[in-house]
Amino acid sequence: MKTISKRILLGVSGGIAAYKSAQLARLLYRQGADVRVVMTISATRFVTPLTFQALTGHPVHTTLLDEHQENAMGHINLARWADLLLVAPATANVLAKFSQGLADDLLSTLYLAAECPVFVAPAMNQAMWAKPATRENLQRLKNHGVTVLGPEQGEQACGETGPGRMLEPETICRLLFPSANGAPLQGKKVLITAGPTREPLDPVRYISNRSSGKMGYALANVAAKFGAEVTLISGPVALPAPAGIKVLSVETAQQMYDAVLAQAHRHDIYIGAAAVADYSPAAVEKEKIKKHADELLLPLQKTRDILAAVAALPDKPYTVGFAAETEDLALHAQKKLQRKNLDMIAANWVGRESGGFDSDRNALSVFWQGGHCQLEMADKRVIAEQLLDLIAERINAKSTA
Ligand code: PMT
Repeated sequence: MKTISKRILLGVSGGIAAYKSAQLARLLYRQGADVRVVMTISATRFVTPLTFQALTGHPVHTTLLDEHQENAMGHINLARWADLLLVAPATANVLAKFSQGLADDLLSTLYLAAECPVFVAPAMNQAMWAKPATRENLQRLKNHGVTVLGPEQGEQACGETGPGRMLEPETICRLLFPSANGAPLQGKKVLITAGPTREPLDPVRYISNRSSGKMGYALANVAAKFGAEVTLISGPVALPAPAGIKVLSVETAQQMYDAVLAQAHRHDIYIGAAAVADYSPAAVEKEKIKKHADELLLPLQKTRDILAAVAALPDKPYTVGFAAETEDLALHAQKKLQRKNLDMIAANWVGRESGGFDSDRNALSVFWQGGHCQLEMADKRVIAEQLLDLIAERINAKSTA
């Protein structure tokens, strides 16, 4: 059924992933989008323009100065026509040209002329992806408002393994039009924790952390949008309760433990996005602690690990933990994945200028057994969509294995 009336300009640049763009064009077309394709000359070495013409029903644009195409739809008209420019695959060369404002072929000229939102799905060798020049180009593009989709980590066409694989066409399509691709979590029950916990010291004081709940609430909202029945267990936050979602409010780590363990067995997926206190005061004073001594020592005791307890349940839900790190992010996250017997872990840097606690944006390094994916810095809602997409994908991969 056609549901989208979007005019999408699909730019295809010269990488082996160009073959996946044929499927992408088809998926976008099936969603009701009017798709016009622009290929770089090197892309035409991988896939013929005829393939895209047959799939979209429109001639493919390849050259900047083509008399016929200039008459029919010149580059400025083409840029004006588009509601959205999506470049997939986006090679390192194309990203460099976009970031520097070079316009020496049709695609780079269109990018400069386009006033619509621009999305790029990078695809390249892992060493090229890691090169400072590529990182800087990407950062410039993000600063200019370009949305970067992916890439994934995995085996590459060159035989190496690492980040640089273009996202699957289905994932790109879902990220662009989450509601159009059905509901990837339809029929699933998802339990999510969010926010901080507060560990009381006395009737007026507590130990807590900087979590705002934004990440967990974004996950809850998106999971509901993806068709899931969502229960959100929330520490004290200043966010409005999400519509249509059952919210259980708790304060302490022990209360969160009790609430989660009472619910977890009824759920298919558990996501621990809350920043649960690792330690709480060994005793809560009945009266306000008086200011007498120059130094006050507070004995603390370890809280119970909610995530590990869920992962140890006999019929455990698909268990996703978060890892908040200030150093050696990948190493610590992978250790937590193994030690707590998780299905997946989403690691974020905290204590930095952007992302992490109390920020509207975040970036995640996601690890599961045998795989890894980097979700680049974006609004927490976009990150939530990408993470839940990954979870849905992994659950499906598990059930069809
Ligand atoms: O709320 P925001 O301002 O939007 O910020 C988002 C966030 C930074 C809080 C979030 O993205 C995040 O990283 N949440 C996890 C924070 C954390 O406690 O990380 P950790 O590395 O200390 O803990 C690892 C995992 O164990 C987490 O899933 C945590 O929920 C869980 N845990 C920790 C202690 C405990 N007693 N029980 C637990 O279940």
